[in-house]
Amino acid sequence: MRILGIETSCDETAAAVIEDGRNILSNVVASQAKLHATFGGIVPEVASRQHLITIVPVVRQALEDAGLELRELDAVAVTFGPGLAGSLLIGVNAAKGLALAHDLPLRGVNHLEGHVYATWLEDVDPGQSPGFPLVCLITSGGHTDLIIMEGHGRFTLVGRTRDDAAGEAFDKAARVLGLGFPGGPAIQRVSAQKAGAEPRFPRPRVKDSLDFSFSGLKTALVRRAEEKGIYPPREGVEIDQQEVANVAAAFQEAMVDTMVRRTVEVAEQYRVNGVLLGGGVSANTLLREQMRERSPVEVLVPRPELCTDNAAMVGAAAFFGSETGQRQQWDLDVMPSLRLG
Ligand code: KG4
Ligand code: ZN
Repeated sequence: MRILGIETSCDETAAAVIEDGRNILSNVVASQAKLHATFGGIVPEVASRQHLITIVPVVRQALEDAGLELRELDAVAVTFGPGLAGSLLIGVNAAKGLALAHDLPLRGVNHLEGHVYATWLEDVDPGQSPGFPLVCLITSGGHTDLIIMEGHGRFTLVGRTRDDAAGEAFDKAARVLGLGFPGGPAIQRVSAQKAGAEPRFPRPRVKDSLDFSFSGLKTALVRRAEEKGIYPPREGVEIDQQEVANVAAAFQEAMVDTMVRRTVEVAEQYRVNGVLLGGGVSANTLLREQMRERSPVEVLVPRPELCTDNAAMVGAAAFFGSETGQRQQWDLDVMPSLRLG
């Protein structure tokens, strides 16, 4: 079964052709990061306009790379939430038009389920080995969720962030440190330059809950940046770049430690067989290393380009989701606040 996946929930316009939920026949991602960098973050109106410009060439490229025509496909799948309403609308309407014109079934995909199924695109079947139940840490610019997966399409949310998503915290921290957008990769890059005595940031814990909270950590970073003359930037005052690297590294360490600790706790409490990582923040090298080192069970994590937003994961999720009976009608609408589990 060959599915055309379409993803436009945030600032990536993406299309991919996926065979049987695993084989990537094509995977095209047009990032708008440079466009939004000028504004220091994603501007929703700019994002949806750019999706409108890019969606047709991106779908064309995905079909061309796969060497297939639309009529040779079996379904069109599209992210319908969660995400930015205006951005989701472009993808959903493009998918509807293509499906209707070529008499193909339409499948709506939950973006978070997409991040989970990115792991199936690698040469593994986590449902077979290590086997269900699994705990999924989906950590991105919009979410930091801990989800127990008991089988295909069977998800229970057991923990989530009470304030900022981890990616959002990375992006804000990078802005304070003058490192630009997107913040996660920038923080990771400068952290490698750390030297000498680093600050130690708190590891926030929400009492009697499996939830996350990152706002205290962000405040600690802002205080430190103010003390050291990094933030707000002042004309004529030179910023100590070594201090920036040290603060970035300490922040990254605290973020990673907080996420790993919670995930390990959930893995033990729910006696899962494996840990799945997904979402943009799971591209972070330290998070990947630390999770592998500290998890009591096997850790599966897609390669970095499948962690950040893409449409291959949408094609995979639509395939496995179809086994659990999800099917969409023509009245499929966007759901910006859709949740998983
Ligand atoms: O999944 P994603 O591409 O889009 C959303 O669904 O939000 O995640 C984007 C987020 C951004 O906040 C970005 O800063 C973060 O993922 N990110 C990282 C890294 N690469 C991307 N955060 C930490 N380390 C990275 N290497
Ligand atoms: Zn995402």
